[in-house]
Amino acid sequence: MAVEHIESYRARAHQALEQRLPAADLHPADLHGAMRYAVLGGGKRIRPILVYSAGVAVGAALDALDGPACAMEFIHAYSLIHDDLPAMDNDDLRHGQPSCHKAFGEALAILAGDALQALAFQVIGQDAAMVADPAIRLRMLNILAQAAGSRGMVGGQAIDLAAVGRELSLVELENMHIHKTGALIRASVLLGALSQPQVAPTLLECLDRYAKCVGLAFQIRDDILDVIGDTATLGKAVGADRALNKPTYPALLGLEGAREHARSLCDEALASLGALGVEADPLRWIAGYIVERSY
Ligand code: IPE
Ligand code: IPE
Ligand code: MG
Ligand code: MG
Ligand code: MG
Repeated sequence: MAVEHIESYRARAHQALEQRLPAADLHPADLHGAMRYAVLGGGKRIRPILVYSAGVAVGAALDALDGPACAMEFIHAYSLIHDDLPAMDNDDLRHGQPSCHKAFGEALAILAGDALQALAFQVIGQDAAMVADPAIRLRMLNILAQAAGSRGMVGGQAIDLAAVGRELSLVELENMHIHKTGALIRASVLLGALSQPQVAPTLLECLDRYAKCVGLAFQIRDDILDVIGDTATLGKAVGADRALNKPTYPALLGLEGAREHARSLCDEALASLGALGVEADPLRWIAGYIVERSY
């Protein structure tokens, strides 16, 4: 059953993250404490799960996937720490707990994010169980850097901040979501697939198409949950987008229009997996989950 694989990947990711984070008592302990709090305090681990699921779909070894899974989650966790800062979304709650800057102070939260970003690249550079070919490692580093940087997630966050209080067109909104959330999701699938050194370029293309659809649908659902979700389930404040006057899919298309758009992206994601057999069932399960999830 696909869902059992998902649960085992989630547990595996937690353990792999735990092992790769600096120990809580390692100097400077307050910084390492903040890093561990932000990463281990919660989260659905959807990016690591995508790394494992994409890798396994093309025959990669699980041991080779722990490094990319952790790298993606470290970048993601850093992006959430910074996203919650007063200068950005100013959110006090994350994973049902005080957000990192509320628990550790703004300066340490900023530094914890910085250090998690560096740790992500370090993992890809040195993880012994990952694919050994240096050309593939270099390709992975480039994919990660592009996805995390000004033409990827960080660029998307800048677009988000600049869009506050403005009305975006559907094309502009899509562009924002593709960058701020889609880029890391796409990189997760690619790093997973590249962990099988012989993966065919045509298969990579199919998986990339899948990931683009899933990445956009994921943020559309995040926008929907900001309207229809509840804080206790989500572990973060609802209504935050409207309070900050953020452009969102429900604001532009209405709730049903946003739902419909996410569903059609899910269908497109599933169609992209046509060449793959049962080994891609966890990826299929994720596509469905993303548009129905309640947290
Ligand atoms: C939240 O991401 C921010 C977005 C990019 C939409 P997730 O919903 O994946 O966050 P966690 O890690 O599971 O809390
Ligand atoms: C966050 O988008 C995207 C990134 C962190 C890159 P949101 O601001 O919508 O995420 P939440 O709703 O705070 O989790
Ligand atoms: Mg934000
Ligand atoms: Mg936010
Ligand atoms: Mg949101």
